[in-house]
Amino acid sequence: MRRLLITLLLVSTALAACTKEEPTEAAVSAPEPVVAAEPEIDPVTGFKMTGDWELVRGNCTACHSAKLITQQRGTAQQWLTMIRWMQAKQNLWQFDPGTEGRIIAYLSETYPPDAARRRAAIPPDLMPPNPYSPATPN
Ligand code: HEC
Repeated sequence: MRRLLITLLLVSTALAACTKEEPTEAAVSAPEPVVAAEPEIDPVTGFKMTGDWELVRGNCTACHSAKLITQQRGTAQQWLTMIRWMQAKQNLWQFDPGTEGRIIAYLSETYPPDAARRRAAIPPDLMPPNPYSPATPN
């Protein structure tokens, strides 16, 4: 009986040793998760220097600080809505479709929506009348 117990003990220890996980070479040298390199920041405007950033600098910093743009986030549709609003209300010039597409692509890819930020702008038709411009509400 005692001999059987000792044998069982030895066998189970041996089995345990066999199944023990040794760190494999693959686990040790697993590559770092790939993180896309952040583009450099233009020291003058603060724009991320990627894609068509110079086109955006050329068209979007004549009237206001680039900060108004870099602090903003949006989908392509939301950026387009802001541009349409400036064209309708703030004398922003019209773009040819190609230029507009490149500007929207830069903005929506570089400054996309971000869950942790401010709420979306209120749609113009939900805004109260602007008391300072009774001729053109909003
Ligand atoms: C012709 C002048 C003009 C140009 C050029 C212009 N904007 Fe504007 N933009 C304005 C004015 C005026 C405002 C309102 C500023 C304020 O509220 O102080 C504004 C506001 C904004 C805002 C803030 C909107 C908000 O909801 O707070 C963003 C973002 C913006 N512009 C982006 C752009 C982008 C992108 C371009 C280039 C496509 C551009 N602007 C070019 C006149 C311009």
